[in-house]
Amino acid sequence: MNTQSTMTMPAETQKFIELVRLYNIEFEEKTGRPPVCHTHSYGCQQNVSDGERLAGMLAEMGYSFTDDRNEADFILYNTCAIRENAEDRIFGNVGALKHNKRRNPGMVVGLCGCMMQQEHVVEKIQKSFPYVDLVFGTHALHHMPELLYTRLSRGGRVFDTAADSGEGIVEGLPARRDSAIKAWLPIMKGCNNFCTYCVVPYVRGREKSRPAQMVLEEARSLVEAGYKEITLLGQNVNSYGKDLESPIGFAQLLYKMNEIPGDFRIRFMTSHPKDCTRELIDAIAACDKVCNHIHLPVQSGSDRILEQMNRHYNRQSYLELVRYARERIPGVTFTSDIIVGFPGETYSDFQETLSLIREVKYLSLFTFLYSPRVGTKAAAMEDPVPAGEKSKWFRELLTVQSDIGNSLLEKMVGSVVEVLVEGMGKTGEDYSTGKTASSVSVDFIGSEQLVGQIVKVRITQALSWALMGELV
Ligand code: SAH
Ligand code: SF4
Ligand code: F3S
Repeated sequence: MNTQSTMTMPAETQKFIELVRLYNIEFEEKTGRPPVCHTHSYGCQQNVSDGERLAGMLAEMGYSFTDDRNEADFILYNTCAIRENAEDRIFGNVGALKHNKRRNPGMVVGLCGCMMQQEHVVEKIQKSFPYVDLVFGTHALHHMPELLYTRLSRGGRVFDTAADSGEGIVEGLPARRDSAIKAWLPIMKGCNNFCTYCVVPYVRGREKSRPAQMVLEEARSLVEAGYKEITLLGQNVNSYGKDLESPIGFAQLLYKMNEIPGDFRIRFMTSHPKDCTRELIDAIAACDKVCNHIHLPVQSGSDRILEQMNRHYNRQSYLELVRYARERIPGVTFTSDIIVGFPGETYSDFQETLSLIREVKYLSLFTFLYSPRVGTKAAAMEDPVPAGEKSKWFRELLTVQSDIGNSLLEKMVGSVVEVLVEGMGKTGEDYSTGKTASSVSVDFIGSEQLVGQIVKVRITQALSWALMGELV
């Protein structure tokens, strides 16, 4: 579904969208079909949200969309640099495009997003991937129409990988959203935290909040367009608003979001534990539209490792936060990110992570093997534990979590829950699938007509990936 925030986009962006559109009209007159693009965003929800704005601009330029890159006149990959395997996968896919380009020399290949803010990556593309035509970074999203127009009208390779200029989120870009039910809503960009393992501050620049009025206007228009769930996005939403002319805290933003009339759910991510306050937890408890689920990445259960990671909280303060949230928010669930094998981590540090996981009882975890990133502090730290050993710990973590997750799900059998129906499920053709406010997936015999509604479901069975239930 296409939506647009009420602000108008920069005049330059608008001008080049129009110029590419005229170019594409000529293309259609010549070939008898509109030009086709294939876009894909890797990485986190912020990147996916950027991808929706890129697609929004492409739609206004007259492109139609395809999932098959072999049909495309324009291929655009929005990249992620968070771990080595993310980068490897992208380079693999870009390598394969060589053949597409040979078959169709007129096609345009573009790369954008986080990897394009890294000097060594851009150099590699310049040298080893001559068939990549268009390269731009995270700060140049709204320049895409101009860069594409330059390529189409003049040919040659076009690069825009300038560093963060301190500009905030550019307002007014149209979005072509993947879902008509759930919407991503970025409230800020960048990150100031410099966790020692993490590349994000280098590729996304410093924190910059969107004015609350912009966020609230976009939220209102999403609710009016029929969206049932809005997820507020930021690398650390808890520091939202500190940089604004009229400062406002994230908790206040939640209260204001909650006042928007309509039947919809509010989620947010990511919440950094160092800035997650009791005031915020009170806000979650007080706002009926804010879901009772907190993604609160702990990374490690060892104070020694947390300090090495530059996370600015410790095991005890984290557990106190969880305890307070459990007291205040009925049925609250937690999910988390865990890094296994941070440089210098010992098996006994790792055991502290396991014991913390057992204590918190997370609904689910995103688990990662540590991956050294160019330019980060941790990449220079000594890392003596062999990869094979780290993999063993990793498997141990998965087993522990799987038992915890399963027992949480089993406890829900027999209860009646409210599910926002998101679509038809994988279980079978009559099955609908959706989520509780606490972020548990539920499948039940339903129908297309229920998609987008909040329905009551009695849980009948717990499977390892989801709950099964029946409509009440
Ligand atoms: N801003 C979010 C995280 C964004 S990155 C936060 O602070 O929680 C998502 C996750 O990727 C991180 O939480 C971390 O667990 C993982 N990650 C980041 N850098 C990594 C690295 N170099 N190696 C392994 N995992 C990493
Ligand atoms: Fe990376 Fe830390 Fe920023 Fe999250 S808070 S994006 S982990 S530097
Ligand atoms: Fe990846 Fe960039 Fe997100 S590095 S995780 S896409 S901020």
